[in-house]
Amino acid sequence: MTRGTEELRRLFDLDGKVAAVTGAGSGIGSAIAHGLAAFGARVVVSDVDSKAAEATVAALPADRAAAVRCDVTRGEDLDALVETAVRRFGRLDVLVNNAGVSAIAPAESTPRNVIDRMIDVNLKGTIFGCQSAARHFIERGGGGSILNLASIAGVVADPGSAPYAAAKGGVVQLTRTLAVEWGRHRIRVNAIGPNYTRTPLVRSTLADPEKLAWIESRTPLGRIGEPDDMIGAAVFLASDASAYVTGHVLMVDGGWSVW
Ligand SMILES: NC(=O)c1ccc[n+]([C@@H]2O[C@H](COP(=O)([O-])OP(=O)(O)OC[C@H]3O[C@@H](n4cnc5c(N)ncnc54)[C@H](O)[C@@H]3O)[C@@H](O)[C@H]2O)c1
Repeated sequence: MTRGTEELRRLFDLDGKVAAVTGAGSGIGSAIAHGLAAFGARVVVSDVDSKAAEATVAALPADRAAAVRCDVTRGEDLDALVETAVRRFGRLDVLVNNAGVSAIAPAESTPRNVIDRMIDVNLKGTIFGCQSAARHFIERGGGGSILNLASIAGVVADPGSAPYAAAKGGVVQLTRTLAVEWGRHRIRVNAIGPNYTRTPLVRSTLADPEKLAWIESRTPLGRIGEPDDMIGAAVFLASDASAYVTGHVLMVDGGWSVW
């Protein structure tokens, strides 16, 4: 053991770190922003819906959070998000690529514009975010942590949402590939894989009692996820506690994907 107890207890501490979270006006992104702030980070809360981003910030300490509009389908918005973090808080250490949209439809009849949207927001938006953060981390030196939101749909089949599943599978491979490509810059790239989680994204699915009962029975831990369930994984992957973890997809899914 080379470190003392006090130092070890600070492994999950995010004091002094600056994080940016996309799609943080709702659901999982809002919970992750709160969690990172609770562990000491200053957080740039972004969303395509600026009012939603402002509402998340309103519930955080005023000196530790800033709201900014960012549409992840526009690469220049992600560059601006990084610039906002640097201008407002002096640096960026953690980017959470969380913004996402879903659609349920038979694969053979999913409209082409819906397919475009699934890929544009969920996959291309994540690639753009990774690029913007990495350019900053490489230029500054000293590394950084990128956290992507994957899904159970990215690692096991998810009938009824093929373009979404394809995009999330892409996020998984993006995470692994960038971890290898950017490891020499000490940039860690990891992902979280949630199960069905109680947010507006899946409200209509969860409102159907039969579907909800099936999801609960299919999940070894017997319940759907709550946004707060993602906080522990996010804090771990953002913090020095995961200093030697990269290219990993941490499933926070109550065991859904293991069978
Ligand atoms: N809820 C689930 O069951 C579940 C399961 C697996 C993975 N996920 C993933 O978790 C992430 C968060 O989802 P959630 O459930 O909190 O959804 P949500 O709908 O509650 O929140 C998503 C947020 O993203 C924002 N957004 C949409 N398009 C955007 C864009 N182009 N640019 C920026 N922001 C945009 C929305 O305004 C919204 O605030 C997504 O990547 C989603 O795919 C969710």
